[in-house]
Amino acid sequence: MSDELKLTILRKLDSEGLIENTTATFKDVSVETILGALKSLESQEKIAYDTLTTEVWTIEAEGKDQLENGSYEAQVFEAVPPGNEGISIEALKAKFGAKANLGQGKGFKNKWIKKSGSNIVRLVDSITDQTKADLETVHQTGTHPSKDVIKDLKRRSLIKQNKILSYAVRKGANFSTELKRQATDLTLEMLQSGAWKSAEFKKFNFDSLGINPSGGHLHPLMKVREEFREVFFETGFEEMPTNNFVDSSFWNFDALFVPQQHPARDLQDTFFLKEPAVANSLPDFWPVVRDVHEKGGYGSIGYRYPWSEAESKKLVLRTHTTSISTYMLHKLAQQPYRPAKYFSIDRVYRNEAVDAKHLAEFHQVEGVIADKNMSLGSLIDFLDIFFKKMGISDLRFKPTYNPYTEPSMEIFSWHEGLREWVEIGNSGMFRPEMLRPLGLAEDVRVAGFGLSLERPTMIKYGIDNIRALVGHKVDLGMIEANPACRLDKKMGKEVFQGRVVEAES
Ligand code: PHE
Repeated sequence: MSDELKLTILRKLDSEGLIENTTATFKDVSVETILGALKSLESQEKIAYDTLTTEVWTIEAEGKDQLENGSYEAQVFEAVPPGNEGISIEALKAKFGAKANLGQGKGFKNKWIKKSGSNIVRLVDSITDQTKADLETVHQTGTHPSKDVIKDLKRRSLIKQNKILSYAVRKGANFSTELKRQATDLTLEMLQSGAWKSAEFKKFNFDSLGINPSGGHLHPLMKVREEFREVFFETGFEEMPTNNFVDSSFWNFDALFVPQQHPARDLQDTFFLKEPAVANSLPDFWPVVRDVHEKGGYGSIGYRYPWSEAESKKLVLRTHTTSISTYMLHKLAQQPYRPAKYFSIDRVYRNEAVDAKHLAEFHQVEGVIADKNMSLGSLIDFLDIFFKKMGISDLRFKPTYNPYTEPSMEIFSWHEGLREWVEIGNSGMFRPEMLRPLGLAEDVRVAGFGLSLERPTMIKYGIDNIRALVGHKVDLGMIEANPACRLDKKMGKEVFQGRVVEAES
């Protein structure tokens, strides 16, 4: 806001006492600029102002032509030579085009001219161009004393009405011709120097709308994660801490009875750390784990290979959250027996070729249940309930192989669109070769299952390329535009299968 305009306003008020109409006084300044200056001065109580709306008539394009060159009737009159001969209608048309008809009509009405055969002749020697004079008046004053003239000019589309905002300004309670910078904040410096005593403070503007609050937006993965968490909490699970993304091969593989020659432990499948490459030490029960790999135990003959401590110390980006479950089960085993239900939802890493469907990382949803009464039947029962809460009602199980579970089951659900059973997760009963070295008693059974968070999220949010969901190509607009919550609380079959099969209430 220019101080120059504010000063001009104050000086004008000082010398004239009043500004009756700002638009008239400041012809070249826009209304917005004037209003800005007035508001600022008003907040300091240097002035007060009232809003005036002035109605002004302005000249339209056709009116401008007649204002400059005379009305059409006058132009036509001037083109008719004195005498009985006059001028042919064709000649007038050729000279004036479309204006000729309008000019003639008005000229007949004014009794300036008349038709004589196919010619036009004069009725009078000279005329007064009243239309032009009226337009001149409107142009000068923005209006015309005669309502009839205004009406006529408007009907002929020569003039148009405009509303102009303007202000009448008078002196305020604090009037002066000086502009003092107003302080907007009480600062430490002002308090220390005492400047606050004489400072002039800017008034609060309670009419101001303020800045739009901009909140954060949850990523779709985090929203679906929340839905899973709710189901876990509803069914009595505790959340595991998953904030260690790097783990030793011991926790990621060995303690899970994954042999050191297993293909999952290849460079092609797992990210090994370069720096630091190995863990400082292994948990003190590592010889028990070594023994079960080398010699077996708990009814098992083991893998019968020389187990390497160095291999076990290799640090990896965890390939599954089952490393966490294993760690938690070991902790659980150190206390007196109690049944436990643990879950986690977090990132895991696998050395995969990246394409539209695969990244080298994904979120694993995992649950483990430790209970003396746990059986394969109760795991199936639990999975039925768990997936039903997510909107999937019929499951099938297919035997599979995991080094750490026996029996192991892939979880399938019927896909109506593909008309086939599709895999939605993996599960099983953890082996004694894994559980006993962790310290769990022989009669404690532990079941587990896992699935990816990305798949249901992509289907639910209609995202068909994983790179649009995770990574540097993610469009922040997509995250902001997606609804904060969905009303279809149950995720429904479509989440896992790509289309709605049956609605769950
Ligand atoms: N770790 C398994 C996976 O990565 C999931 C799983 C967890 C399977 C627990 C069985 C038991 O697919």
